[in-house]
Amino acid sequence: MSLGGTSGPRVCARICKLAGRRQRMLLRLLVSVAVAFCFLFSSLVSKDEDASPGVETMLVFSDHVRSFVNPVWTSSGRPVDRKRTGPRPCPVCYLPVEQALALRPAKPSLSPVLQSLNYVLEEILIPKESKSGSLFGGFPSLEERDKSYDIKDSMTVHCGFVRGKVPGLNTGFDIDEADHSEMQLCQSTVVASAIFGNYDVMQQPENISKFSKDTVCFFMFLEEETEAAIKNTTIGHTKKIGLWRVVVVRNLPFTDARRNGKVPKLLLHRLFPNARYSIWIDGKLKLVRDPYQVLERFLWRKNVSFAISRHYRRFDVFEEAEANKAGGKYDNTSIDYQIEFYKREGLTHYSSAKLPITSDVPEGCVIIREHIPITNLFTCLWFNEVDRFTSRDQLSFSTVRDKIRWRVNWTADMFLDCERRDFVVQSYHRELLEQRQSALRRWPPQRSPIARFQPRKMLPDNAAREPWKASATKKLSRKRARDKKSSSRRTH
Ligand SMILES: *[C@@H]1O[C@H](CO)[C@@H](O)[C@H](O)[C@H]1NC(C)=O
Ligand SMILES: *[C@@H]1O[C@H](CO)[C@@H](O)[C@H](O)[C@H]1NC(C)=O
Ligand SMILES: *[C@@H]1O[C@H](CO)[C@@H](O)[C@H](O)[C@H]1NC(C)=O
Ligand SMILES: *[C@@H]1O[C@H](CO)[C@@H](O)[C@H](O)[C@H]1NC(C)=O
Ligand SMILES: *[C@@H]1O[C@H](CO)[C@@H](O)[C@H](O)[C@H]1NC(C)=O
Repeated sequence: MSLGGTSGPRVCARICKLAGRRQRMLLRLLVSVAVAFCFLFSSLVSKDEDASPGVETMLVFSDHVRSFVNPVWTSSGRPVDRKRTGPRPCPVCYLPVEQALALRPAKPSLSPVLQSLNYVLEEILIPKESKSGSLFGGFPSLEERDKSYDIKDSMTVHCGFVRGKVPGLNTGFDIDEADHSEMQLCQSTVVASAIFGNYDVMQQPENISKFSKDTVCFFMFLEEETEAAIKNTTIGHTKKIGLWRVVVVRNLPFTDARRNGKVPKLLLHRLFPNARYSIWIDGKLKLVRDPYQVLERFLWRKNVSFAISRHYRRFDVFEEAEANKAGGKYDNTSIDYQIEFYKREGLTHYSSAKLPITSDVPEGCVIIREHIPITNLFTCLWFNEVDRFTSRDQLSFSTVRDKIRWRVNWTADMFLDCERRDFVVQSYHRELLEQRQSALRRWPPQRSPIARFQPRKMLPDNAAREPWKASATKKLSRKRARDKKSSSRRTH
């Protein structure tokens, strides 16, 4: 109600002051029309706000309408926070960058029990069982999977990149020697992201301090297809685009772009073995806070070594699985197989009985972590689940976390989704942006523009890679159909 009720008249009063006497009458008339319109609009919006969470389509729908009406409005709704519908950012209190840095712990956090983590390396691989993952992952058997949760002082586990001594050099997910050397030099903090399949528009981090620009490594992984599209629109042969150091990846281990994205997301400690901290952000997100402020707020201040946000309204893996099925995120059979498997291993519904665990379902588009043996183990084993089962990592997160938590005093901290939305802002995927731009060019539209924006079925975030059924270009829909079909097939 705030828009029509308060800010509207205040703005109008200011305009009135500026205007000449003769125009005041006309202005007053215009203002009353505007206020009436604002009032109507805000009452419509506040209806949305009161809507039950079940009416997700409607919320997302109105989000599209709003951003259509004013393309400057970001999906985080930052400039229009008070009347934003659906999941919103909430205020997060950060320290100034210098103070945050002063609180950086001198010593690495303790890694309970596990002190030395080594990785399986095998040149010749034959799958020992069906459904044991990919060649890139090394086909860990179920017995090896069990053993990898038997946490000891020194362990050797599967963690991708099994076919070479150095991750990224002839292991699959291959990178150039020059890129590799530069990645080895990254010693303090890495902020990493990836765009595979040309799905997203590259987002430049904002609000980054001079110190962070000089000391934090910003790495963006692309495959050749995305690189070609980006080179077309940007200038220069330098390997930097804005703050991002761009790395082109070859021999991607999977046919599915989403699955490939899990390699840098979960295995950053393999790619940047000397980095102490990392922040992973999905390609569709723009970082709008300084990395040190984020590390201080979500790791150092809480004495935790791993932080991820919760899903904004689902806490239960079974519910998440159903939502994934209903949204066509992955084939139903694979989702059911995974959930049945976890159920037999003891997965139960989320309830307050699990407290202090606050949720079983993460919103995994951001991961903030310190690279210590126990967090490295966690993400290796999480990757192995994503490799063995569906690529929907929110389904396997709690199983991996709990199997570790039952044995050692460590857990993954989960913060609020609205807090995450304070430091990363979501952009729409390329297709939607392009639709919106062309729609704006045709303004005023011959028919209601709203009709072109099909409501998204579910999760505004993780969900975003669903095929854009209604209005994708032919080429893209064909491509996605291919991706979808092959989503569980792997290149061997
Ligand atoms: C590059 O741009 C040209 C013209 O703008 C276009 O015809 C071509 O398809 C683009 N190539 C890629 C790979 O996007
Ligand atoms: C940069 O940070 C300031 C507050 O420190 C915030 O108001 C502003 O919105 C941020 N910029 C962006 C693009 O979010
Ligand atoms: C974190 O650890 C420091 C030093 O070990 C301690 O002073 C502080 O109270 C701890 N903070 C929390 C939130 O546990
Ligand atoms: C998958 O399951 C969902 C919900 O359980 C259902 O709505 C959907 O139609 C199913 N899809 C297929 C292809 O069977
Ligand atoms: C678990 O670790 C935390 C610090 O990470 C410590 O405060 C707590 O006492 C430990 N609990 C047990 C049971 O050892």
